[in-house]
Amino acid sequence: MSRVAYVNGRYVRHAEAGVSIDDRAFLFSDGIYEVIEIYQGALIDERGHLDRLARSAGELRLTPPLGEAALRFVMRELVARNRVQFGHVYLQITRGAARREHTFPPAGTPTTLVAFARSHDPDAGEAKARKGVNAITLPDIRWKRPDIKTVSLLPNVLAKQQAKEAGAYEAWLVDADGFVTEGASSNAWIVDKTGALRTHPADSSILLGITRARILEIARAKGIPVIERAFTVAETHEAAEAFISGATTLVMPIVRLDGRPIGQTSSDCAAPGPVSLGLRACFHEFAVKSV
Ligand code: PDD
Repeated sequence: MSRVAYVNGRYVRHAEAGVSIDDRAFLFSDGIYEVIEIYQGALIDERGHLDRLARSAGELRLTPPLGEAALRFVMRELVARNRVQFGHVYLQITRGAARREHTFPPAGTPTTLVAFARSHDPDAGEAKARKGVNAITLPDIRWKRPDIKTVSLLPNVLAKQQAKEAGAYEAWLVDADGFVTEGASSNAWIVDKTGALRTHPADSSILLGITRARILEIARAKGIPVIERAFTVAETHEAAEAFISGATTLVMPIVRLDGRPIGQTSSDCAAPGPVSLGLRACFHEFAVKSV
C-alpha cells in the first residue's frame, strides 16, 4: 500500500507530493505546523492541537486555507487512507507560493496546506521508555518566540543532531540564566526529591506543549504536587527523576543528563523512575478513553 498525503485540496501519493519552490516555507520558513498523536486510530488531544494551530496562525497573521471542520476531516481521511493505528498526523500551513520578497505576498495569495500521516511501532516506544533515554545540555540559541509552533527549527535541528552524535536522544536547551527551557523537540520535566513535578512555566520561552498540559492535568488529578517553575541543570542532577513530553515521545524518561545518571548513585544503574513511568501509563489510559 503506498502512502497518501494531502496537498492543497488533493490526496496524492506521498512519494509524488510536492509544493512549489516559491513556497514561503521553503524560502523563509514562513509556516506553522502541528503534530498529533494517533492512538488506536484516534487523534489524541485534537482540540488542544487545533487551538494551538489557530494561535500560531494568528501570531504570524496567516489565514489557514481550510476551516476547522475541513481540517478535522482531512486528518481523519489520512488516518483511514494510510491505515494508521499508532503514529501521528503532521499538518503544515505556509504563507503560500509567491515571487521571493521578504514582505508578505499580495493579498489573496492562497496559503499552502500539506498534511500526512505516519505509523509508529508502539512496542518500540514502550521498550524505549522502559530503558529510558539520554539527554545532553546545550545553550538555547533560538529566537524569542518558541511558543509559536513554526517550521523555523534550525537551532532545534542542530541541537538534536549534536545530541545524536553524543549518543543522546534529546538536547535540553539552557537559557542565559542557567535554566532549562525545554528539549529540542519536547518539554522538559524533573521530579524533585520531595516527589513534586517541576517544569518551565508556560511563557513565551517554551512551546506550550499539548502533552505538557495533559500531564499537568493528570498529575493534579492524581494528587502529585506540580510546580511550574524553571529549574537549573544542577537541580536536574539532584532530582529523583527527569523526563520529556511530546506528541510523539509521550512521557519519555531521561536517565542520564550529560553522561551523569539521574536519581541514581551508581553510574551502572541509570533507570527510569516510577513517577515518569506512572505518568506514561496514565497518558495511555487517557488516550484509550479518547478512542
Ligand atoms: N514537537 N517543545 C518543542 C520544541 C517541540 O518541538 C515539541 C513537540 C514540544 C511538545 O509539544 P506537544 O506536547 O504539543 O507535542 C515541546 C513535535 C512533536 C515535533 O516537532 O515533532
